[in-house]
Formats: sequence, structure tokens, C-alpha cells
Amino acid sequence: MGWWLFFGGMGGLGGWLRGGTLVGDGGGGSGGHGRENESGLATTCIHQLLEHLISSLVDNVCRSCVKKGYMRDDYIHFFVRRPVRRSPIINRGYFARFGALRKFLFQFLSSDVHTKKQVLSLGAGFDTTYFQLQEEGKAPYLYVELDFHEVTSKKAALIEIHSELREKVGATASISRENGEVLGDHYKLLPVDLRDIQRLTNVIALAKLDPSLPTFIIAECVLIYLDPESSRSIVAWAARTFSTAAFFLYEQVIHPDDAFGEQMIRNLECRGCGLLGIHATPTLEAKERLFLDQGWQRAIAWNMERVYSEFIDSQERRRIERLELFDEFEEWHMMQEHYCVAYAINDALGIFQNFGFHENDDEHNASSTPVGS
Ligand SMILES: C[S@@+](CC[C@H](N)C(=O)[O-])C[C@H]1O[C@@H](n2cnc3c(N)ncnc32)[C@H](O)[C@@H]1O
Repeated sequence: MGWWLFFGGMGGLGGWLRGGTLVGDGGGGSGGHGRENESGLATTCIHQLLEHLISSLVDNVCRSCVKKGYMRDDYIHFFVRRPVRRSPIINRGYFARFGALRKFLFQFLSSDVHTKKQVLSLGAGFDTTYFQLQEEGKAPYLYVELDFHEVTSKKAALIEIHSELREKVGATASISRENGEVLGDHYKLLPVDLRDIQRLTNVIALAKLDPSLPTFIIAECVLIYLDPESSRSIVAWAARTFSTAAFFLYEQVIHPDDAFGEQMIRNLECRGCGLLGIHATPTLEAKERLFLDQGWQRAIAWNMERVYSEFIDSQERRRIERLELFDEFEEWHMMQEHYCVAYAINDALGIFQNFGFHENDDEHNASSTPVGS
């Protein structure tokens, strides 16, 4: 299998490889074309990102993994109509990312169980984590998702249409497709261009996020698409705003200058939407510096090769490795080395001492029961 297919399968780049169909959209995803975003920035790339998201393999791979038994997600089928079969390498890579996020989330939710917790997802797309956490009785006190209006209006529409989604955001939640908003007591979906820091601050107030509460910030495959200055501003804003927080980052790409990285970048550029942040943070050290230079107390980045072998629970690894076999190990390792997880911590309340990568330590695994509300 060619490298470009691997790029497609991970980190949201797969939108360029057409896949399944978004429910409720007919797969076209044209809503909002020609509309200016809040900060008046050029919309071409936004529309490409939207197209990208709508046909995204992120969601499709998720559905593929769920179908194969890698993980449970009772809600992805509301967002992706047809499961599309993905290769074992793609599925395993997605599982590694999913497993890492879940493990960090559960560490966060189970720390200091008497304190209310909040989650803020930047560029959430059609991510279903909130709904699944609700299903499992593990949702935090407040879960806030932000994205472009074009995306949140589609997500709001799907939540409104499907009673299974609607009941999870609460009977009294107000839902507006037109405004791209869902305002429930414990769940908020709001439109914003993340590059507009003033508007971001306003939206945080609208969402009733409390800056003094422990906050888990998620940015999966988002910042790498932004220009480096915008990414730095967002990371600095988050450090200023939340005094007790973990910032979780999953994205391509480290080592953009080797053959694999160059091919990935070419693949994207020839479709008109590059990874604008790629050269600003091309190594694990640079990912850490991104946070440390913008006011975070500590930051750690590992590539996915290490995350998979040292952080994902060994029992889980053994389980999913039996689901699908493959022998393209060179490609698997290469792909994993080009993606990473980074996290940064600010810890005014002192709740993050045991948070983070624990090498070969299954006692910190995801089976702990969080009490977040
Ligand atoms: C590749 S998708 C990832 C979606 C989701 N985080 C996931 O991992 O499944 C990137 C998301 O970031 C959003 N996004 C990119 N730039 C943004 C911006 N400036 N403001 C708000 N959302 C943005 C896109 O609309 C899209 O939903």
C-alpha cells in the first residue's frame, strides 16, 4: 500500500481520499459556501477543511474500527451513514489515537473526584466523545465543542434530528441549526473561528466555562492546519485563561523533511490546502516548545510509535492485535513515527501530579472510574 493512503487514514488527512457519506448532508457538504467567517478571513481553505471534514476518514475510520470491534461508539453511525472498510494498519493507527485520548481523559476525570471538571474541544468536528462518555456515565460537568459555523450548524442539525443524540444533550437544551448552537446545561456546541482570540474569549463566557475549574482541552488534527502565529496565540490564550488545565494535542507531523513527510505534504498541497503549521513544529521537541514558550508549566510529546507500545494498555493491545493481522510492519512503524501526542499542564490546584504518560504502567489504565460531576 502506498504511503499516501496511510496519510489519508490518519489525522484527518483522509478527507482527500473520498470515503463514506455524512448523514443529513447528502455527502456534498456545501453548506455555508461563500459565507464569510467571523473574522472576515478568506474562506477558500475553510471550505476545503469543511469538505475535508465531511468526507473525513477520521469519522469513517472510526466507524470502520467500531465495526471491527476495536472500540465501542454507539453514536458514530449518526454522523457517518455507511461504514467504509479500512485497512488493518489504518484501523490500528486510529485505535492508538483513540486509546491515548481516552486514557488521558479518564486520568483527568478520575483525579480529585470532588471537583467539577470541564472539557473544551477545539475544532471538534463530528467527534462523538461527549455522547459516548454520557452513555458510559463518565461525562464531565461541562463539555464544550467549538468549530466553524459551517460544521457546528450541521452537527446541531443532526443532534436535533436524532432523539438518541438529543436526549444526551438534555431535554431543556436549546438547539439552533441557523446559529450552529446547542446550549444544554452540561453540553455546549458553539461556532467560532479559533484564530479570532477575542471572539474565542466571548464564546468561552457564552459557554459558561469557568476558568478556575480543571479543564481538559482537546485539539486533535486542528492546530497543524493553522498558520503558526494563530496556533501560538491559541495555545497562549489557553494558558492564560485556564489555571488548572491539560492541553491534549494529537497531530501530524513530525519530520516533514524525510521522504514520508515530503510525500504527505505534497499530497496535501496539490489539493490546495497545506499543513500551515508543519514547519513551525517539525519535531517532538518543537511540539513541547510550542507549549512551554506560551506559558504552560510542563509539556511532553511522544510519537505514536512510543505511545502505542508504552502507553496503550498491554491487554488492550493484545486484544486488538488479534482482530486483524497484517505484515506491513515497516509501513506501520513509519506511519506511527510521523504522528504524535503532546500534552501540556498548568496545575494551580495541584491535581495533575499523577497525570501523563506512565511507561509500562497498567495500574493507571483506562479502567479507573471517573466521577466528573
Ligand atoms: C481534521 S478535522 C478534525 C476534527 C476532530 N477534531 C477529529 O479529530 O475528529 C479539523 C477540524 O478543525 C476545524 N477547524 C479548522 N480550523 C478551524 C478554525 N480556524 N476555527 C474553528 N475550527 C477550525 C475544522 O472545521 C474541522 O472540524
